[in-house]
Amino acid sequence: MFATALPRTADPNALPRDLFGAIADLKRDMNAVILAHYYQEADIQDLADYLGDSLGLSQQAAQTDADVILFAGVHFMAETAKILNPHKQVLLPDIDAGCSLADSCPAEGFAAFKAQHPNALVVSYINCTAEIKALSDVICTSSNAVSIVNQLPSDRPIIFAPDRNLGRYVADQTGRDLILWDGSCMVHEIFSEKKLVQLKVQHPQATVLAHPECEPPVLRHADYIGSTTALLKHAKGSDRDTFIVATEPGIIHQMQKAAPEKRYIPAPPTTNCACNECPHMRLNTVEKIYLALKNRTPEVTLPPDTCQAALKPIQRMLEMS
Ligand code: 13P
Ligand code: SF4
Repeated sequence: MFATALPRTADPNALPRDLFGAIADLKRDMNAVILAHYYQEADIQDLADYLGDSLGLSQQAAQTDADVILFAGVHFMAETAKILNPHKQVLLPDIDAGCSLADSCPAEGFAAFKAQHPNALVVSYINCTAEIKALSDVICTSSNAVSIVNQLPSDRPIIFAPDRNLGRYVADQTGRDLILWDGSCMVHEIFSEKKLVQLKVQHPQATVLAHPECEPPVLRHADYIGSTTALLKHAKGSDRDTFIVATEPGIIHQMQKAAPEKRYIPAPPTTNCACNECPHMRLNTVEKIYLALKNRTPEVTLPPDTCQAALKPIQRMLEMS
């Protein structure tokens, strides 16, 4: 008796020997572009066609002539790319790559909050869902939030959502009395002021770089505050040689590439965990990027009316930037 040979079915999750070569082939065949945020692991940063902060990434998404956008970032970033390109396929390597900040602002609760301030303009940080964008007048990122708020009429109240820390920082910088939604980022609120001060004592010459999503006690110790791109530029251009970096440590990979002779020390979290790494961003892997391109899934889709309503405030931001 001979066993009957069963027909072979290709394993959709099989990985090639040359993962990076296979990704390059798929990208070319599909006319795909890979956009990646600085908080991705180093290998992903290195294979991206464009790497940037949230503003740079949305500008790239608005300009691309690729047919497929693979977003190595989190869900709200892929949604923004989809809103800007409703007819293109937008892939997210891990569909569970969310954002604690976006989750801290549910649409129903925010609509009720907005209804309490009927005369207010709504400025929403890009780290929010498409539904929140659709309820907003203008979107901002950490690199243009101050400039956008400064451009708004001085006689109108302003709601700023969802990040209370960025909101407080913008209120300080602009002198505007912002109505803040009480949201925050789990990564940026984990830094310990006490450990940061201890680190400064050990490295008195170090420059402290901080993202404005950090809480006020940490921002008070910062020598320079800015978006990820701004922090990178500052580290590169500075004549100092040691930096304490209070943001997700993925950015340190680019700092080391830009100025390898300098020293970069991640700001310590309150506990001994690696919880200053964004658990959402870090769900993406090179393997998942390959599989997402090959299988054209997970795809980010949105209802057309949400897409249309969310497009206006994003376009307004791009015009004002
Ligand atoms: P930027 O890259 O725009 O500074 O944003 C940081 C961030 O938290 C992204 O999730
Ligand atoms: Fe969201 Fe914070 Fe992660 Fe950025 S770092 S994606 S704001 S949880």
